[in-house]
Amino acid sequence: MRLSQRYAPIVVRDSDDIGSNPTDARPMIEIVEARLSRRGLLKGVAGSAVASAFGSSMFGCATLVPGNPSTLTFEEIARGIDETHHVAPGYAAEVLIRWGDKVVKDAPAFDPRNQSAGAQARQFGYNCDFIAYMPLPVGSRNSENGLLCVNHEYTSAELMFPGLTEKNKLDRTDKYRTEIELAAHGHSVVEIRKHGNGWRVVEDSPYNRRVSLSGTKMRVAGPAAGHARLRTSADLTGREVIGTANNCGGGWTPWGTVLIAEENFDGYFGGRTEGLPQAAAYKRYGISGDSQYAWWKFHDRFNLEKEPNEPNRFGWIVEIDPYDPESVPVKRTALGRFKHENAHAILNKDGRVVVYMGDDERFDYVYKFVTSGLYDSDDRAANMNLLDKGTLYVARFHDDGRMEWLPIVHGEDPLTPENGFGDHGDVMIEVRRAADLLGATPMDRPEFVVPNPVNGRVYAMLTNNSKRGLDQIDAVNPRANNTTGHILETIPPGDGAEADHAATDGRWEIFLLAGDPTFGTTQYGDGTSDKGWFACPDGCTFDSKGRLWIATDQGGAQAEFGIGDGIWATDTGGDGRAVTRAFFRIPIGAEACGPCFTPDDKTLFVSVQHPGADGLSSFDRPSTRWPDFADGIPPRPSVVAITKLDGGEIGS
Ligand code: FEO
Ligand code: CA
Ligand code: CA
Ligand code: CA
Repeated sequence: MRLSQRYAPIVVRDSDDIGSNPTDARPMIEIVEARLSRRGLLKGVAGSAVASAFGSSMFGCATLVPGNPSTLTFEEIARGIDETHHVAPGYAAEVLIRWGDKVVKDAPAFDPRNQSAGAQARQFGYNCDFIAYMPLPVGSRNSENGLLCVNHEYTSAELMFPGLTEKNKLDRTDKYRTEIELAAHGHSVVEIRKHGNGWRVVEDSPYNRRVSLSGTKMRVAGPAAGHARLRTSADLTGREVIGTANNCGGGWTPWGTVLIAEENFDGYFGGRTEGLPQAAAYKRYGISGDSQYAWWKFHDRFNLEKEPNEPNRFGWIVEIDPYDPESVPVKRTALGRFKHENAHAILNKDGRVVVYMGDDERFDYVYKFVTSGLYDSDDRAANMNLLDKGTLYVARFHDDGRMEWLPIVHGEDPLTPENGFGDHGDVMIEVRRAADLLGATPMDRPEFVVPNPVNGRVYAMLTNNSKRGLDQIDAVNPRANNTTGHILETIPPGDGAEADHAATDGRWEIFLLAGDPTFGTTQYGDGTSDKGWFACPDGCTFDSKGRLWIATDQGGAQAEFGIGDGIWATDTGGDGRAVTRAFFRIPIGAEACGPCFTPDDKTLFVSVQHPGADGLSSFDRPSTRWPDFADGIPPRPSVVAITKLDGGEIGS
C-alpha cells in the first residue's frame, strides 16, 4: 500500500483504499453471528459497529491466558513505535541490502545528494516489497547460497530527494528526478551467501540484475498478447512493454521462476479522461488522470490523452527467470488484469499448477488460476509457458460456510459480445467487470492469498475496509468499518497434500479478526497476549511446519492503534491456532513486507518498506534515519535477514 492514507494529516490519495467496485452486498447480521465462533471472540469496551449491532450480551469477554499454548517458543517483543527495529530475544535481525546499495557490479556507491538515473538503474531500488529466496543451483534446497529476488514497489520522492516534501513533490518533480524514480521501480536479483550466521551480497555475481520501469523490455503472452487494446504508438504489436510498475507482492513457481504483481498502476497516469473511449473501462480500475506522479508531463506513455492504451499494459502478473540474467520477463495475461497483490503457486496433486491471487482494493475479489497443462519436474523448459493456458476463477463465498470458484471464460454467459467482451483478451483486460457480472463476493481488500503447504488450506489476508457499512456486512466480511482486517481460511476438498486446489468448491472459516480488543470485536485463539494483538495483515508466508507468519501494514493508523508494524506468527492448528505472537517490529512509518524463509527455516528475510513515511517526514526532516542513523542520510528501505543466535530454526 502507498504511504499513509487513512489517517495521515496530509492526505495522499490511496488507490488501495478508494474502492471502485459498485457491486452491492446485503445485510446479514444474523448469519454473521451464526458463523463467528464464540471461542476467542473478544468484544472491546468501546464496541465495534457490529458488536454494538449484536448487543453486548452476544459474546462474553474471553480470559487472557498468560501461558503460551503455541508451538512458537520465542519470547514476545513489547508493543510500541520508535525509530528502529526490534526482534525477539535470542534472535538477530541484520540489514542485508538497502536502497542505493550495489546490485550490478559496476554500480557506483550510494550518494543520495547526487543521485542519477544511471546509478539508480544499477543500485537496489526504492521501497523493497516482495522477497523470493531462490536457492542455487535451481531446484536445490540450498539454504546458504541463493538469489534474493526483491520487488521495488514505488517511490517516495519526498524521502529520496533533498528539498522535497509531501506537499511540494508533484510541483518540484522534474525530468531528471522522474528518470531516477523510473529506475528505482521494478525488481532486483542479487546473489547472497551465508557466512556463519549472517548473510552477505555476492557483489560480483553474474546473476545480479536490475529490472526497472525505464529500461527492461518485457514480452506480453497469453490471451491479451497482441490485442488491439494493448497497442500504442511505441508498440504497434501490443506484445512488448517497457518495464513493470508498482510491484507489490508476488510468488514463485515449482520450476524456479518468480512471479511479481503489478498493483496500483492507476496512479501513474495523468491527463484528461473525459471523452476518451477508454474512460468507462478506466473507472473500474480507478484510473482518473489524477496522477500521484508528475511523470506524464515528461513521458507521453503516462499521458492518457496521448497513449490511452498504455494503462492496459499494466496490472498483470510478470514472470521472471532469475537464474538467467538475460531472460526477458513475461507479462502473463491469462492470470487477468487487476491490482495484483500476490501470486502464490502450488503444485496440485494431479500435476496442474494453481496460482492464488488477491486484488487489493476495497470490495474487490479473491482469484485463482488453474493451468491446463501439467508440470514436468524433469524438463524445466517445458514448464516455462504453463501460465499461458488455463482457467481463471473468482471466489464466491456463501454465508453457510460453502464457497465456489466461478470460471471466467469468454463466451460463457454473461461474458459475451453483448456485454462488451469481444474475445478472451477483452475479458482478461477487464477481469474486474467480468467478475462483477459473475457475482463474485466483494471482500475487505484481499492482500496475500497463500496456500499452506502442510495442511492444504489457503489463507487470505483481508487487510482492512473502513468503507464497509453495517448494511454491507456478510458472514465472510463480518465487521462494518473494518479498520484492522481479518484472516480468512479457505478449505479445498481433501487434506494436506491431498487437497484439491483445482476444485471449484470448498469451505471457509474466519481464522481471526485482527485489532486491539479494547476498541472493537476481535477473534484470536485462547491464550493470545496483548502483545499478540496486531492490525492490518498484508503479506504472509509459512514455515515448513505450516505455521503462519504475518506481515502488517497499517499505513497511517500506526499511531492511532499504538502498534508498530512488523511480523506476528501463529500455529494454524492445535491449541495454538490463531494465537498470534509478536516476533519482529520495524521503525516508524514503515510497513513490513515479503516475509520469506530459506528452505531450512533458519533465516527469515523481511522487507522494511518506506521507513519514516508518516506523511510529515522528508529527506531533510525524516522521523527516522533508519538503518544508517547517519547525519544527512535519509531513511533507506532495506531487507533484513533474521536468524536465531544459536543457529537453529526460527520459531523452534
Ligand atoms: Fe502494496 Fe496491497 O499492498
Ligand atoms: Ca507496499
Ligand atoms: Ca498493504
Ligand atoms: Ca502489500
